[in-house]
Amino acid sequence: MAEQYEYLRTRMVRRRTLVTAGAVAGGLLTGCAGESKAPTGRTASTASPSVSAAGSSVTPFGRHLAFGADPRTGMRISWQVPAAVRAPYVRIGTRPDQLGGKVRAEVRALHTPGVQGVRSALEQYYVHAAVDGLLPGTTYYYGVGHEGFDPADPTDSARRATIASFRTAPAGAERFVFTAFGDQGVGRAATAVNRQVLRTAPAFHLHAGDICYADGSGQGRKSDGYDPTAWDAFLRQTEPVARSVPWMVTTGNHDMEAWYSPDGYGGQLARFSLPDNGFDPRTAPGVYSFRYGNVGVVALDANDVSYEIRANLGYTGGRQTAWLKRTLSGLRADENVDFVVVFFHHCAYSTSTHASDGGVRAEWQPLFDRYQVDLVINGHNHVYERTDALKGGRVGRAVPVGGSTDPTRDGTVYVTAGGGGRDLYGFPAGVPESYEGKVHGRESVDTFHWTRGGENTPETVEWSRVRYRGFSCLTVEAVAGPSAKLTVSALAEDGARIDRFEVRRGA
Ligand SMILES: [Fe+2]
Ligand SMILES: [Fe+2]
Repeated sequence: MAEQYEYLRTRMVRRRTLVTAGAVAGGLLTGCAGESKAPTGRTASTASPSVSAAGSSVTPFGRHLAFGADPRTGMRISWQVPAAVRAPYVRIGTRPDQLGGKVRAEVRALHTPGVQGVRSALEQYYVHAAVDGLLPGTTYYYGVGHEGFDPADPTDSARRATIASFRTAPAGAERFVFTAFGDQGVGRAATAVNRQVLRTAPAFHLHAGDICYADGSGQGRKSDGYDPTAWDAFLRQTEPVARSVPWMVTTGNHDMEAWYSPDGYGGQLARFSLPDNGFDPRTAPGVYSFRYGNVGVVALDANDVSYEIRANLGYTGGRQTAWLKRTLSGLRADENVDFVVVFFHHCAYSTSTHASDGGVRAEWQPLFDRYQVDLVINGHNHVYERTDALKGGRVGRAVPVGGSTDPTRDGTVYVTAGGGGRDLYGFPAGVPESYEGKVHGRESVDTFHWTRGGENTPETVEWSRVRYRGFSCLTVEAVAGPSAKLTVSALAEDGARIDRFEVRRGA
């Protein structure tokens, strides 16, 4: 961690343009180009990187949003530029034709060293603006720019066409939908599943890791196959959704990119601005939480606990699990929270190729039981698989397609939503798929789990309730009030529903 922090500190201090955030609610939306006040009262300062191209010839791309720690009032707007620029900024307002003044943004330049005979060194420029002080439940329009490129230029319709919008979380609880998947990559299927997300019009999207696959090895080691330009393609692919849908990622094994830091997260820290309320956002960017309406969401980094892929095993020294305990306890004590959803990469319970990770079970399953977590979402196995409700690793209640479960009585349902676009896996030989419209009767499945020693141990399980070998997206509808419930559905890439169940507490 010390090495990673030193890497980031050095790079950020040497290369960053500036750091800022703007108070942009209501009448405060008229900022000025010269400076902007951060919420802490700090005044941003400017230190430009070396700039070789004229700003007018550099077009931003890859816009992606993420909530701040409070989705009612804070948004992080991020994008990429193909060359260094001066004075990047975002304009934001409640009408597309009346954007406010410039809110300064921060450049995070990411250097990838060259490899003889394989690739040249590469510099990538990611830009981030922290926007706080927003009004809850409000639609905002924004445009991103820099010196020489103004998205609000009244004489340039192409630039004005880049203006996008988002909606902040409501002050109270209201019905909403969110989506989730992991293991996406770049390509036809990934684009198709993105379109499915867009059709669902979610309030936010959870990405359970293995985001881009620039690192094809997934082992957390320097690999000659590493291709940083895959991220350019990924962010271009993601932009049509993530420019308006907060794209809340966590880190999978393919997101440990050892070229940047020992833990491999230097690249992710440059590309994403996620909520900074984890135990240490500088070293574990994929660990955070937020509340949207009546749902508390917790993102975890399972690389810390995986017995299967051990590059980062134990790297938090137990701090993440201690943070998880505090966070779950706090969410359960919050009278505004009905449901707690936890997402991370490696599976606690799956029968597909990587099967189940005993490290996840050992570290976190007791906490999920203790705090009656309502839904766990994983990736890593490139299929859709869903368990019955589990308590202590055993079936507390069978939850068939169309069924209902009460986590206060039955335990937690675990979903593997790894069909986000990367090449698909299968299920053990002879074990059929079973999903809505094609249900096979209950049967046990011979599978395995990874042990502390890095071996896999056979096990026969009865919790594999739904299995689908295809690209898919999870959708969760949250309803508040006396009939509070989560309606969990899975959609194939063509929109056909393959699973559905309800979660009600104390029903
Ligand atoms: Fe994957
Ligand atoms: Fe994975």
